[in-house]
Amino acid sequence: MKNITVLGAGGWGLALALSLNANGHKVTVWSPFADEVQNLNEKRTNEKLLTGIIIPNSINITTDLSVCQNNDITVIATPSFAVKETAQKLKSVKPNGIVVNVAKGFENKTLMRLSQVIESELPNADIMVLSGPSHAEEVARKIPTMLTVSGKNEQVCKTVQEVFSSDILRVYTNPDTIGVELGGALKNVIAVAAGVCDGMGLGDNSKAALITRGLAEMSRLGEKLGAKAATFAGLTGLGDLVVTCTSTHSRNHRFGELVGKGYTVEDALNIVGTVEGYYACKSAYQLAQKHGVDTPIIELSHKLLYEEYPVEDIVKTLMQRPFKEE
Ligand SMILES: NC(=O)c1ccc[n+]([C@@H]2O[C@H](COP(=O)([O-])OP(=O)(O)OC[C@H]3O[C@@H](n4cnc5c(N)ncnc54)[C@H](O)[C@@H]3O)[C@@H](O)[C@H]2O)c1
Repeated sequence: MKNITVLGAGGWGLALALSLNANGHKVTVWSPFADEVQNLNEKRTNEKLLTGIIIPNSINITTDLSVCQNNDITVIATPSFAVKETAQKLKSVKPNGIVVNVAKGFENKTLMRLSQVIESELPNADIMVLSGPSHAEEVARKIPTMLTVSGKNEQVCKTVQEVFSSDILRVYTNPDTIGVELGGALKNVIAVAAGVCDGMGLGDNSKAALITRGLAEMSRLGEKLGAKAATFAGLTGLGDLVVTCTSTHSRNHRFGELVGKGYTVEDALNIVGTVEGYYACKSAYQLAQKHGVDTPIIELSHKLLYEEYPVEDIVKTLMQRPFKEE
Protein backbone atom coordinates (compact mmCIF):
# COMPACT_ATOMS: atom_id res chain seq x y z
CA MET A 1 0.00 0.00 0.00
CA LYS A 2 1.32 3.45 -0.97
CA ASN A 3 0.56 6.90 0.46
CA ILE A 4 -0.64 8.92 -2.53
CA THR A 5 -1.79 12.54 -2.78
CA VAL A 6 -3.56 13.78 -5.90
CA LEU A 7 -3.21 17.55 -6.40
CA GLY A 8 -6.31 18.87 -8.19
CA ALA A 9 -9.88 17.84 -7.42
CA GLY A 10 -11.26 18.10 -10.95
CA GLY A 11 -12.57 15.29 -13.12
CA TRP A 12 -9.20 13.64 -13.79
CA GLY A 13 -7.79 14.05 -10.27
CA LEU A 14 -10.92 12.48 -8.75
CA ALA A 15 -11.09 9.65 -11.31
CA LEU A 16 -7.46 8.69 -10.64
CA ALA A 17 -8.01 8.98 -6.88
CA LEU A 18 -10.98 6.57 -7.14
CA SER A 19 -8.93 4.13 -9.18
CA LEU A 20 -5.92 4.26 -6.82
CA ASN A 21 -8.22 3.91 -3.81
CA ALA A 22 -9.80 0.82 -5.39
CA ASN A 23 -6.26 -0.58 -5.81
CA GLY A 24 -5.90 -0.45 -2.00
CA HIS A 25 -3.73 2.66 -1.64
CA LYS A 26 -4.16 5.40 0.98
CA VAL A 27 -5.34 8.33 -1.12
CA THR A 28 -5.69 12.03 -0.36
CA VAL A 29 -7.07 14.59 -2.81
CA TRP A 30 -5.83 18.18 -2.42
CA SER A 31 -7.28 21.37 -3.80
CA PRO A 32 -6.27 24.96 -2.95
CA PHE A 33 -9.96 25.95 -2.99
CA ALA A 34 -11.68 25.64 0.40
CA ASP A 35 -15.19 25.79 -1.14
CA GLU A 36 -14.37 22.95 -3.55
CA VAL A 37 -13.01 20.78 -0.72
CA GLN A 38 -15.97 21.57 1.54
CA ASN A 39 -18.44 20.75 -1.22
CA LEU A 40 -16.74 17.44 -2.02
CA ASN A 41 -16.53 16.49 1.67
CA GLU A 42 -20.23 17.27 2.19
CA LYS A 43 -21.64 15.69 -0.97
CA ARG A 44 -19.00 13.00 -1.68
CA THR A 45 -19.69 13.43 -5.38
CA ASN A 46 -19.14 15.87 -8.23
CA GLU A 47 -22.38 15.53 -10.16
CA LYS A 48 -21.26 17.84 -12.96
CA LEU A 49 -17.92 16.20 -13.75
CA LEU A 50 -18.49 12.59 -12.62
CA THR A 51 -22.24 12.06 -12.69
CA GLY A 52 -23.51 9.30 -10.41
CA ILE A 53 -20.08 8.49 -8.94
CA ILE A 54 -19.71 8.36 -5.14
CA ILE A 55 -16.34 9.26 -3.61
CA PRO A 56 -15.78 6.83 -0.72
CA ASN A 57 -14.99 8.18 2.76
CA SER A 58 -11.66 6.34 2.63
CA ILE A 59 -10.44 9.12 0.27
CA ASN A 60 -9.30 12.08 2.35
CA ILE A 61 -10.07 15.48 0.74
CA THR A 62 -8.16 18.49 2.05
CA THR A 63 -6.62 21.94 1.45
CA ASP A 64 -3.60 20.96 3.60
CA LEU A 65 -0.59 20.31 1.37
CA SER A 66 1.64 19.17 4.23
CA VAL A 67 0.17 15.65 3.75
CA CYS A 68 2.71 15.34 0.89
CA GLN A 69 5.54 15.10 3.44
CA ASN A 70 4.56 11.47 4.06
CA ASN A 71 3.92 10.58 0.42
CA ASP A 72 5.21 7.75 -1.70
CA ILE A 73 3.64 9.36 -4.76
CA THR A 74 2.26 12.86 -5.54
CA VAL A 75 0.09 13.17 -8.64
CA ILE A 76 -0.23 16.62 -10.25
CA ALA A 77 -3.71 16.84 -11.84
CA THR A 78 -4.31 20.58 -12.07
CA PRO A 79 -4.85 22.45 -15.36
CA SER A 80 -1.53 23.13 -17.15
CA PHE A 81 -1.57 26.85 -16.28
CA ALA A 82 -1.49 25.95 -12.56
CA VAL A 83 1.30 23.34 -12.69
CA LYS A 84 4.15 25.75 -11.95
CA GLU A 85 2.49 27.41 -8.95
CA THR A 86 1.40 24.00 -7.66
CA ALA A 87 4.98 22.67 -7.95
CA GLN A 88 6.20 25.78 -6.12
CA LYS A 89 3.70 25.22 -3.31
CA LEU A 90 4.71 21.56 -3.20
CA LYS A 91 8.38 22.51 -2.89
CA SER A 92 7.57 24.70 0.12
CA VAL A 93 6.22 21.72 2.13
CA LYS A 94 9.27 19.54 1.33
CA PRO A 95 7.43 16.62 -0.28
CA ASN A 96 8.60 13.05 -0.24
CA GLY A 97 8.45 10.45 -3.03
CA ILE A 98 7.76 10.27 -6.74
CA VAL A 99 5.92 13.04 -8.64
CA VAL A 100 3.59 11.95 -11.45
CA ASN A 101 2.31 14.63 -13.81
CA VAL A 102 -1.00 13.94 -15.58
CA ALA A 103 -1.74 17.50 -16.76
CA LYS A 104 -1.44 18.02 -20.52
CA GLY A 105 -0.03 21.19 -21.99
CA PHE A 106 2.90 23.61 -22.00
CA GLU A 107 4.00 26.52 -19.89
CA ASN A 108 3.01 29.26 -22.35
CA LYS A 109 5.61 31.78 -21.17
CA THR A 110 8.66 29.52 -21.59
CA LEU A 111 7.26 26.87 -24.04
CA MET A 112 8.54 24.24 -21.60
CA ARG A 113 6.97 20.80 -21.26
CA LEU A 114 5.22 20.42 -17.89
CA SER A 115 7.67 17.81 -16.57
CA GLN A 116 10.47 20.34 -17.25
CA VAL A 117 8.50 22.97 -15.34
CA ILE A 118 8.10 20.60 -12.37
CA GLU A 119 11.77 19.62 -12.55
CA SER A 120 12.81 23.28 -12.40
CA GLU A 121 11.01 23.53 -9.05
CA LEU A 122 11.77 20.04 -7.70
CA PRO A 123 15.16 19.13 -9.22
CA ASN A 124 15.72 16.13 -6.92
CA ALA A 125 12.34 14.44 -7.42
CA ASP A 126 11.71 11.43 -9.65
CA ILE A 127 9.29 13.01 -12.13
CA MET A 128 7.07 10.80 -14.24
CA VAL A 129 4.55 11.55 -16.98
CA LEU A 130 1.33 9.52 -17.20
CA SER A 131 -0.72 10.05 -20.35
CA GLY A 132 -2.94 8.35 -22.92
CA PRO A 133 -6.55 8.12 -24.14
CA SER A 134 -8.55 8.55 -20.95
CA HIS A 135 -11.74 10.42 -20.30
CA ALA A 136 -12.16 10.88 -16.55
CA GLU A 137 -15.86 10.01 -16.80
CA GLU A 138 -15.03 6.58 -18.27
CA VAL A 139 -12.20 5.76 -15.85
CA ALA A 140 -14.52 6.64 -12.95
CA ARG A 141 -17.13 4.26 -14.44
CA LYS A 142 -14.47 1.52 -14.61
CA ILE A 143 -14.41 1.34 -18.39
CA PRO A 144 -11.21 -0.42 -19.58
CA THR A 145 -8.52 2.17 -20.31
CA MET A 146 -4.84 2.09 -21.30
CA LEU A 147 -2.20 4.65 -20.37
CA THR A 148 1.55 5.08 -20.75
CA VAL A 149 4.06 6.16 -18.12
CA SER A 150 7.46 7.65 -18.91
CA GLY A 151 10.34 9.17 -16.96
CA LYS A 152 14.11 9.10 -16.54
CA ASN A 153 14.25 6.29 -13.99
CA GLU A 154 13.16 2.93 -15.45
CA GLN A 155 12.63 1.35 -12.02
CA VAL A 156 10.39 4.21 -10.91
CA CYS A 157 8.43 3.86 -14.17
CA LYS A 158 7.78 0.23 -13.28
CA THR A 159 6.66 1.21 -9.77
CA VAL A 160 4.15 3.72 -11.21
CA GLN A 161 3.00 1.10 -13.73
CA GLU A 162 2.27 -1.36 -10.90
CA VAL A 163 0.63 1.17 -8.59
CA PHE A 164 -1.80 2.54 -11.20
CA SER A 165 -2.59 -0.70 -13.06
CA SER A 166 -5.69 -2.74 -12.31
CA ASP A 167 -8.17 -4.99 -14.11
CA ILE A 168 -9.62 -1.90 -15.81
CA LEU A 169 -6.51 0.28 -16.12
CA ARG A 170 -3.53 -1.11 -18.02
CA VAL A 171 -0.36 0.99 -17.91
CA TYR A 172 2.51 0.61 -20.39
CA THR A 173 5.99 2.10 -20.04
CA ASN A 174 7.75 4.07 -22.79
CA PRO A 175 11.26 5.55 -22.45
CA ASP A 176 10.47 8.44 -24.84
CA THR A 177 9.32 11.02 -22.28
CA ILE A 178 9.43 13.92 -24.76
CA GLY A 179 7.17 12.03 -27.20
CA VAL A 180 4.76 10.84 -24.51
CA GLU A 181 4.41 14.34 -23.10
CA LEU A 182 4.17 16.16 -26.44
CA GLY A 183 1.50 13.76 -27.70
CA GLY A 184 -0.78 14.66 -24.78
CA ALA A 185 -0.19 18.38 -25.20
CA LEU A 186 -0.42 18.65 -29.00
CA LYS A 187 -3.45 16.42 -29.55
CA ASN A 188 -5.62 18.98 -27.76
CA VAL A 189 -4.86 21.53 -30.49
CA ILE A 190 -5.94 19.10 -33.22
CA ALA A 191 -9.03 18.21 -31.14
CA VAL A 192 -10.10 21.84 -31.15
CA ALA A 193 -9.70 21.84 -34.96
CA ALA A 194 -11.75 18.62 -35.17
CA GLY A 195 -14.47 20.32 -33.13
CA VAL A 196 -14.41 23.27 -35.53
CA CYS A 197 -14.79 20.79 -38.39
CA ASP A 198 -17.90 19.29 -36.72
CA GLY A 199 -19.29 22.70 -35.77
CA MET A 200 -19.06 23.78 -39.42
CA GLY A 201 -21.07 20.71 -40.38
CA LEU A 202 -18.29 19.07 -42.42
CA GLY A 203 -18.31 15.30 -42.81
CA ASP A 204 -16.41 12.16 -41.76
CA ASN A 205 -14.03 12.48 -44.73
CA SER A 206 -12.90 15.91 -43.58
CA LYS A 207 -12.44 14.83 -39.99
CA ALA A 208 -10.48 11.70 -40.90
CA ALA A 209 -8.20 13.85 -43.07
CA LEU A 210 -7.79 16.36 -40.25
CA ILE A 211 -6.89 13.68 -37.69
CA THR A 212 -4.40 12.04 -40.06
CA ARG A 213 -2.71 15.24 -41.18
CA GLY A 214 -2.86 16.54 -37.58
CA LEU A 215 -0.97 13.47 -36.43
CA ALA A 216 1.64 14.12 -39.14
CA GLU A 217 2.11 17.65 -37.76
CA MET A 218 2.38 16.41 -34.16
CA SER A 219 4.96 13.87 -35.21
CA ARG A 220 6.97 16.35 -37.33
CA LEU A 221 7.08 18.96 -34.58
CA GLY A 222 7.71 16.29 -31.94
CA GLU A 223 10.70 14.85 -33.82
CA LYS A 224 12.21 18.32 -34.14
CA LEU A 225 11.86 18.70 -30.36
CA GLY A 226 13.65 15.41 -29.66
CA ALA A 227 10.79 12.86 -29.62
CA LYS A 228 10.69 9.56 -31.49
CA ALA A 229 8.21 9.50 -34.40
CA ALA A 230 7.00 6.00 -33.38
CA THR A 231 5.68 7.32 -30.06
CA PHE A 232 3.06 9.35 -31.95
CA ALA A 233 1.61 6.12 -33.36
CA GLY A 234 1.05 4.86 -29.78
CA LEU A 235 -1.45 5.45 -26.98
CA THR A 236 -0.22 8.94 -26.10
CA GLY A 237 -0.26 10.06 -29.75
CA LEU A 238 -2.79 8.46 -32.08
CA GLY A 239 -4.71 6.92 -29.17
CA ASP A 240 -5.25 10.18 -27.34
CA LEU A 241 -5.85 12.05 -30.60
CA VAL A 242 -8.66 9.69 -31.63
CA VAL A 243 -10.39 9.79 -28.24
CA THR A 244 -10.25 13.58 -28.04
CA CYS A 245 -11.27 14.28 -31.64
CA THR A 246 -14.24 11.93 -31.69
CA SER A 247 -15.84 12.17 -28.26
CA THR A 248 -18.49 14.39 -26.76
CA HIS A 249 -16.67 14.18 -23.38
CA SER A 250 -13.82 16.37 -24.67
CA ARG A 251 -13.88 20.03 -23.65
CA ASN A 252 -11.40 20.79 -26.46
CA HIS A 253 -13.73 19.30 -29.04
CA ARG A 254 -16.79 21.01 -27.55
CA PHE A 255 -15.02 24.37 -27.54
CA GLY A 256 -13.95 23.93 -31.19
CA GLU A 257 -17.48 22.93 -32.14
CA LEU A 258 -18.88 26.18 -30.73
CA VAL A 259 -16.25 28.22 -32.58
CA GLY A 260 -17.10 26.28 -35.77
CA LYS A 261 -20.75 27.21 -35.25
CA GLY A 262 -19.82 30.88 -35.15
CA TYR A 263 -19.49 31.61 -31.41
CA THR A 264 -16.69 34.04 -30.54
CA VAL A 265 -13.64 32.45 -28.92
CA GLU A 266 -14.37 34.36 -25.72
CA ASP A 267 -18.00 33.17 -25.55
CA ALA A 268 -17.00 29.57 -26.30
CA LEU A 269 -14.38 29.66 -23.51
CA ASN A 270 -16.95 31.07 -21.09
CA ILE A 271 -19.36 28.26 -21.90
CA VAL A 272 -16.87 25.35 -21.78
CA GLY A 273 -14.42 26.44 -19.04
CA THR A 274 -10.73 25.44 -19.08
CA VAL A 275 -9.76 24.34 -22.59
CA GLU A 276 -6.19 23.02 -22.66
CA GLY A 277 -6.09 23.04 -26.48
CA TYR A 278 -6.70 26.80 -26.54
CA TYR A 279 -3.56 27.43 -24.44
CA ALA A 280 -1.52 24.66 -26.08
CA CYS A 281 -2.27 26.13 -29.52
CA LYS A 282 -0.31 29.26 -28.64
CA SER A 283 2.76 27.30 -27.49
CA ALA A 284 2.57 24.77 -30.34
CA TYR A 285 2.41 27.59 -32.89
CA GLN A 286 5.37 29.40 -31.31
CA LEU A 287 7.41 26.18 -31.10
CA ALA A 288 6.71 25.41 -34.78
CA GLN A 289 7.72 28.94 -35.80
CA LYS A 290 10.85 28.84 -33.65
CA HIS A 291 11.99 25.50 -35.07
CA GLY A 292 10.83 26.10 -38.65
CA VAL A 293 8.37 23.19 -38.76
CA ASP A 294 5.51 23.20 -41.29
CA THR A 295 2.27 22.83 -39.27
CA PRO A 296 -0.63 24.25 -41.32
CA ILE A 297 -3.42 22.97 -39.04
CA ILE A 298 -1.76 24.35 -35.91
CA GLU A 299 -1.02 27.61 -37.75
CA LEU A 300 -4.61 28.06 -38.94
CA SER A 301 -5.95 27.12 -35.49
CA HIS A 302 -3.76 29.87 -34.08
CA LYS A 303 -5.10 32.36 -36.64
CA LEU A 304 -8.66 31.36 -35.77
CA LEU A 305 -8.23 31.45 -31.97
CA TYR A 306 -5.85 34.39 -31.58
CA GLU A 307 -5.92 36.47 -34.79
CA GLU A 308 -9.65 36.75 -35.58
CA TYR A 309 -9.31 34.77 -38.82
CA PRO A 310 -12.78 34.07 -40.28
CA VAL A 311 -13.85 30.47 -39.70
CA GLU A 312 -15.45 30.25 -43.18
CA ASP A 313 -12.03 30.82 -44.85
CA ILE A 314 -10.31 27.92 -43.06
CA VAL A 315 -11.30 25.11 -45.44
CA LYS A 316 -10.40 27.06 -48.57
CA THR A 317 -7.00 28.00 -47.11
CA LEU A 318 -6.18 24.39 -46.20
CA MET A 319 -7.45 22.93 -49.49
CA GLN A 320 -5.61 25.44 -51.67
CA ARG A 321 -2.15 24.87 -50.19
CA PRO A 322 0.49 23.93 -52.82
CA PHE A 323 0.38 20.25 -53.86
CA LYS A 324 2.89 17.97 -52.14
CA GLU A 325 3.71 14.33 -51.40
CA GLU A 326 1.90 12.81 -48.40
N1 LIG B 1 -10.66 15.28 -17.62
C1 LIG B 1 -10.03 14.29 -18.25
O1 LIG B 1 -10.67 13.36 -18.73
C2 LIG B 1 -8.53 14.29 -18.36
C3 LIG B 1 -7.89 13.11 -18.75
C4 LIG B 1 -6.51 13.09 -18.87
C5 LIG B 1 -5.78 14.24 -18.58
N2 LIG B 1 -6.43 15.36 -18.21
C6 LIG B 1 -5.61 16.54 -17.90
O2 LIG B 1 -5.57 16.69 -16.49
C7 LIG B 1 -5.55 18.08 -16.13
C8 LIG B 1 -6.72 18.36 -15.21
O3 LIG B 1 -7.90 18.09 -15.94
P1 LIG B 1 -9.35 18.10 -15.27
O4 LIG B 1 -10.28 17.72 -16.34
O5 LIG B 1 -9.36 17.34 -13.99
O6 LIG B 1 -9.49 19.66 -14.96
P2 LIG B 1 -10.61 20.40 -14.13
O7 LIG B 1 -10.67 21.76 -14.71
O8 LIG B 1 -11.84 19.55 -14.05
O9 LIG B 1 -10.02 20.46 -12.63
C9 LIG B 1 -8.83 20.94 -12.27
C10 LIG B 1 -8.72 21.00 -10.74
O10 LIG B 1 -7.42 21.53 -10.48
C11 LIG B 1 -7.49 22.36 -9.36
N3 LIG B 1 -7.08 23.72 -9.73
C12 LIG B 1 -7.67 24.60 -10.58
N4 LIG B 1 -7.00 25.75 -10.63
C13 LIG B 1 -5.95 25.60 -9.79
C14 LIG B 1 -4.89 26.46 -9.40
N5 LIG B 1 -4.76 27.70 -9.88
N6 LIG B 1 -3.96 25.97 -8.53
C15 LIG B 1 -4.05 24.70 -8.07
N7 LIG B 1 -5.06 23.86 -8.37
C16 LIG B 1 -5.98 24.31 -9.23
C17 LIG B 1 -8.91 22.37 -8.84
O11 LIG B 1 -9.00 21.44 -7.79
C18 LIG B 1 -9.71 21.93 -10.05
O12 LIG B 1 -10.89 21.26 -9.68
C19 LIG B 1 -5.60 18.86 -17.46
O13 LIG B 1 -4.32 19.22 -17.85
C20 LIG B 1 -6.17 17.84 -18.44
O14 LIG B 1 -5.74 18.06 -19.77
C21 LIG B 1 -7.78 15.41 -18.08
